[in-house]
Amino acid sequence: MSINQTKLDDLVLRAVGDLSGGYAGVMMSLGHKLGLYSAMYGAGPLTPAEVARRAGCHERYVREWLHAQVAGLYVDYDAVSGKFELTPEQALVLADASSPTFMPLAWQVPASMWFDEEKSLAAFRSGDGVAWGEHDERLFCGSAAFYRNTYRGNLVQHWLPALDGVTERLERGAVVADVGCGQGHSSILLAQAFPHTRVHGYDVHAGSLAEASVLAEEAGVEDRVHFAEARASDYAGQNFDLICFFDCLHDMGHPLAAVSHAKAALAPGGTVMVIEPFANDSLENNINPVARIYYAASTTLCCAHAISERGTHVLGAQAGEQRIAQIFHEAGFQYFRRAAETPFNLVFEARA
Ligand SMILES: C[S@@+](CC[C@H](N)C(=O)[O-])C[C@H]1O[C@@H](n2cnc3c(N)ncnc32)[C@H](O)[C@@H]1O
Repeated sequence: MSINQTKLDDLVLRAVGDLSGGYAGVMMSLGHKLGLYSAMYGAGPLTPAEVARRAGCHERYVREWLHAQVAGLYVDYDAVSGKFELTPEQALVLADASSPTFMPLAWQVPASMWFDEEKSLAAFRSGDGVAWGEHDERLFCGSAAFYRNTYRGNLVQHWLPALDGVTERLERGAVVADVGCGQGHSSILLAQAFPHTRVHGYDVHAGSLAEASVLAEEAGVEDRVHFAEARASDYAGQNFDLICFFDCLHDMGHPLAAVSHAKAALAPGGTVMVIEPFANDSLENNINPVARIYYAASTTLCCAHAISERGTHVLGAQAGEQRIAQIFHEAGFQYFRRAAETPFNLVFEARA
C-alpha cells in the first residue's frame, strides 16, 4: 500500500488541531466556571496574580491556564510587560453570557457525550435507543445555551418577521405552543418580546421543564408562560396561533404524528414554525465544521432519542429541507417553505 505523504500530513495536522480544540474546551469551561474570563472582562492588561486575585483562585494554576489561553489566541499577551488582556472581541465569545457568540457553555454538550460514552457503546451494539433525559445533566444546560445564542440574535429580529403575518399576530396577543421546549429559552424570549402573548411549552423531559419554570420566573414572565410535561403528539389545547418546534422535530421518533397533531391544534390561519439545524439535503454537501458538530451530536443524542421512542422515523440532526418538507406534505399541510436560514439553522413556515 503506497502512502501519499502530503495527504497523511494534512490529516495528521487536522487531527492534531481537533485534539487541541478538545483540550481548549476543558480550559474554556474552567475559565467560565471559575470566573477567570469575567475577572479579565474590561479590566485591561493584568498579571497572572491580578487575574488570580480577582477570581479568587491560586496564581500558579491561573498562570498556566493563561498560557494555554495565549497559545490558543483566546487571550492577548504582551511579552514586555508580562501582562494578559481579554480584548472586546474575545470577551464577546468568552466572557459576556448575553452575547449571541458566547461559547463556553456549548462545551457542556461534548462533556456529557464523553461522560455517556458507555451508553453510546452499548447502544451501537444493541441497536437500542437512549432517551434525551437519560443523559448526563450537562447536556441539558449545554444544548439550551448553545441554541439560546442563536435564538437571541435571530428569533424576534429575523425569523418571525420572515413568516407571513406572524409578528403582527403576536403583537396583538396570540397563543403559542413551544413543542419540545427543553429549558424554555425560546418560550421566554417570545413572552418577553410580545407582552400580550401567552406561551405553552411542552416537553417529555421533566428536569428541563423544572429548570424552564425557574428561568421564566427569573425573567418575570411566569404569568404568561406555562410549562407542562407532554409528548409532541398528545398535548392538550386547541387554537394555537403559532406552534413552534425549536431544534427538536428531528429528535422525535414520531415526527409525522407530531406534525399531524400540530395541524389539528392550529387556530384558523395559524402557522407552524420549525427551526432545524442547518443542513443541505445530501451528505456530500454537508462537509463543513458545523455539519460535523451536528452529525456527531446526532449520532449519540438525536438518533439515540428517536430510536428510544420506537417510532416511524430516525431523521437525525442533518435531516435537511426535503425530508422535513415530506413530513409536512404527508401530514396534509398545503403550504411549506424555507423562510430563513443562518449558518446554524433552517427556518421553515407551514400552514394548513
Ligand atoms: C435538542 S433539545 C431542544 C430543546 C429546545 N427546544 C431548545 O431549542 O433548546 C430537544 C428537546 O426535544 C424534546 N423531545 C424529544 N422528543 C419529544 C417528544 N416526542 N415530545 C416532546 N418533546 C420531545 C427533548 O426532551 C428535548 O428537550
